Amino acid sequence: MTTSFLTLESLSEKLDQLATFSAPGPGVTRLVYDEHWCAAHLWLQREARALGLAATCDAIGNLWLHDPALQPGARVIAVGSHLDSVTRGGRFDGAYGTIAALLLAAELRAQGAPVAAFVTCEEEGSRFPMALTGVRGLLGQLVPSECADKRDANGVRWADALQAAREKGCAAAAPPDGSPVPRVFTASRQLELHIEQGPVLESMGAKLGVVDTIAGYRRVRARLTGEARHAGTTPMDRRRDALAAAAEIVLATEALGIETGAPGVATAGGASAEPGLYNVVPGAAALLLEVRHTDAASLSRMEETLVERARAIASRRGVALELEVQAGEAATPLSAALADEAEAMAAGMAIPYRRMASGAGHDTMAFAQDGVPALMLFTPSRLGISHHPDELTKARDLWVAAAFARELLLAWAKSVA
Ligand code: GLV
Ligand code: MN
Ligand code: MN
Repeated sequence: MTTSFLTLESLSEKLDQLATFSAPGPGVTRLVYDEHWCAAHLWLQREARALGLAATCDAIGNLWLHDPALQPGARVIAVGSHLDSVTRGGRFDGAYGTIAALLLAAELRAQGAPVAAFVTCEEEGSRFPMALTGVRGLLGQLVPSECADKRDANGVRWADALQAAREKGCAAAAPPDGSPVPRVFTASRQLELHIEQGPVLESMGAKLGVVDTIAGYRRVRARLTGEARHAGTTPMDRRRDALAAAAEIVLATEALGIETGAPGVATAGGASAEPGLYNVVPGAAALLLEVRHTDAASLSRMEETLVERARAIASRRGVALELEVQAGEAATPLSAALADEAEAMAAGMAIPYRRMASGAGHDTMAFAQDGVPALMLFTPSRLGISHHPDELTKARDLWVAAAFARELLLAWAKSVA
């Protein structure tokens, strides 16, 4: 088969270009609606047009790159990923699936397949206190007026940041108050290409991950209140040290992950203490705690155990504990039938592959939860590093999965036609 749009070179070049849209500093920092995100968004629209595609924004800045002949409301095979990054993240998370989708949409349009690329505005939750907002909007599940007042770390309102991006041409008009984001297209099936972000494929020498489950997660913010006292004069047996209690909870969290074992993981991802001075016993502390598992019952058990242990530690130390459960995501099975088909195709093409679960969350979860037959394909990540500037996947490995996706999407186009 001849390819003109999807080549190893075009994939690498466009990924390099997309990585330039970033705040200064190590790695890539492209947060939803910020100036770098807007510049990347406008660049993607231009790239799509140069490849013969139309670029259609929805009301919160999700982008569809598609055959101009496809009218809004059409059913499409959707392939894509997210445009935002974490702070000081890597060049491939979200970006690979975005660029691969752009090239696949151009390539498959030339072959008459109803494949459209989607680029979600936000997946990471790295600017506003909510994640997966892009895909929820894309699926018609998000009411913008309900998120309007969420604020970023600088106090900027979500609605104001979105409006500024809209004025630059990165989003369509807002829907009436109380209405959800209107859908542009409806997905009959969905595919996301992504780097693995873990060490499994590389350590097994596999080139392709066929993902059939995405781990769910629960997040809990813990606030501990003890007594701030003079650190030089307060005897050790008369202290109610909030930071020492928090430290014990951090270790209990780690122990829970170890005891549970793969695919369960548990992380204390953030810790702070007040007043944060040498000479004051900390009177307050805060923790960000997270558990993940691919099995719903195990995930619930992990959360319950974490909460019980945190309460027991705080109570033994005479420290007050407030737990605020944040929005989580359910463990999400993807389409077993599509995974079987992809496995058979990979075997037939002699691509070393592994069927696997994803420990990281992805836009694909929302499609699958919405009843869309959905699948993810992973590429190996060097040393399993991700959410870090050292994120790396070899150009050849990126190409193998994208070329495989082209064949898979062509087969899907035949079966849904
Ligand atoms: C997304 O990257 C997540 O898994 O938190
Ligand atoms: Mn990520
Ligand atoms: Mn991602």
